[in-house]
Amino acid sequence: MQDKTISGFSRLSKAEKIEWLTQQWLPPGENGAEAIRSFWHQDEEVQRVLDGFSENTLSNFFMPYGIAPNFKINDRLYAVPMVIEESSVVAAASSAAKFWLPRGGFTAQVKSTVKIGQVHFSWGGTSDQMLPHLPALKTYLLQDVAHLTENMVKRGGGVLDIEWLDLSHLEPNYFQLKVTFETCDSMGANFINSVLEQFGRSLHTFVQNPSLFSGSARDLTVIMAILSNYTPECIVQASVECPIDTLTGVCADMPGEAYAKKFWQAVRIAEIDPYRATTHNKGIFNGVDAVVLATGNDFRAVEACGHAHAAHTGRYQSLSHCDISDGTFRFWMDLPLALGTVGGLTRLHPLARLSLAILGNPSAPELMEVIASTGLAQNFAALRSLTTTGIQKGHMKMHLLNILNHLGANQTEQEKACDFFVDKTVSFTAVRDFLYAQRNGKSLSVK
Ligand code: MEV
Repeated sequence: MQDKTISGFSRLSKAEKIEWLTQQWLPPGENGAEAIRSFWHQDEEVQRVLDGFSENTLSNFFMPYGIAPNFKINDRLYAVPMVIEESSVVAAASSAAKFWLPRGGFTAQVKSTVKIGQVHFSWGGTSDQMLPHLPALKTYLLQDVAHLTENMVKRGGGVLDIEWLDLSHLEPNYFQLKVTFETCDSMGANFINSVLEQFGRSLHTFVQNPSLFSGSARDLTVIMAILSNYTPECIVQASVECPIDTLTGVCADMPGEAYAKKFWQAVRIAEIDPYRATTHNKGIFNGVDAVVLATGNDFRAVEACGHAHAAHTGRYQSLSHCDISDGTFRFWMDLPLALGTVGGLTRLHPLARLSLAILGNPSAPELMEVIASTGLAQNFAALRSLTTTGIQKGHMKMHLLNILNHLGANQTEQEKACDFFVDKTVSFTAVRDFLYAQRNGKSLSVK
């Protein structure tokens, strides 16, 4: 077998990397180099910035960048930028935004922005030995990171608290420093991790002090120091509400009360059944991730945290909830979201910077409110489709263009197909048959 391994790949120039890749990994005739180059940014300086985000960058992977207008959140109007490849997500968010616009829009409120980090270590001492020295340890640790926290403190943030956790009942000699942080408008991952790593070193030095500890209490190994992406306190609530009777007509001629009950049941099922909850929450993240990406934030962190939160009762559940009482329909979601509007890619990526400008250069808490509202809107739109027409109608309509492109339809064929399928069910086979009939001069009737 041909050896396709390579060492020193990262040190090759971009051209050499492309050359190696196309020669080793692409079949002859596949013009990979041309494809890779065709997606380079025309402005070399911009491409240089994009290349710098990651290792071994060869090109850019395009994703649709769209806008969901008409989002009224806390009485302020937003056009929300979304990066998403799934057809119908932006359309669904836009339609939910428009639905709630005359009904008061979305209300969103950040409860806290506290972040968490941990130093995990193994120690030969006992908590009884440490507890008398804990105040001194905290002072010592804080002094040692003063040079790292100085700027954050000036901005109103920094280390909030350091907690000593004895977990030796779960794993022999396992202890933890659980540290809470305020990182203001930055997501703060680098800040938190730098502080934690210094805490680890300082902790190790602290227990070496012979006037405080002796014997095995001087044996301390830092296992790792890292932020936690589970930030249950860094939470925002987004909600909508309206009189139940104004929901009349959302589902054909169903009275508002009956429809509200049906919607409530759909949410209830996602509270009860983890299979449904997973799909329900996926729909929420269709909206959340799209704005997180558009603003240059870390969607993996947001997803991991959201799903951990969805399971915080011990059972994976719906992130959103619904209440129908006193003649009012209420739909809301509490979502932990650790975001930044400064630092990271937020200002480096040209389109992330543009997204933040479109949103009025929000603070991190304001961005949390926008993103949670978009997630709730997405969830509302999905549930509204599911409990009325079914999801496929809107979904496949949006998917029609993908199918047409896949089948190589030209502009005229695309226009004819869009007209033809306006009142018909879209499926791959139906579209293929339609194109076949078009191209062979036959007429077609599809239900
Ligand atoms: C599809 O991407 C998302 C939905 O499945 C969400 C849901 O079922 O609630 C439509």
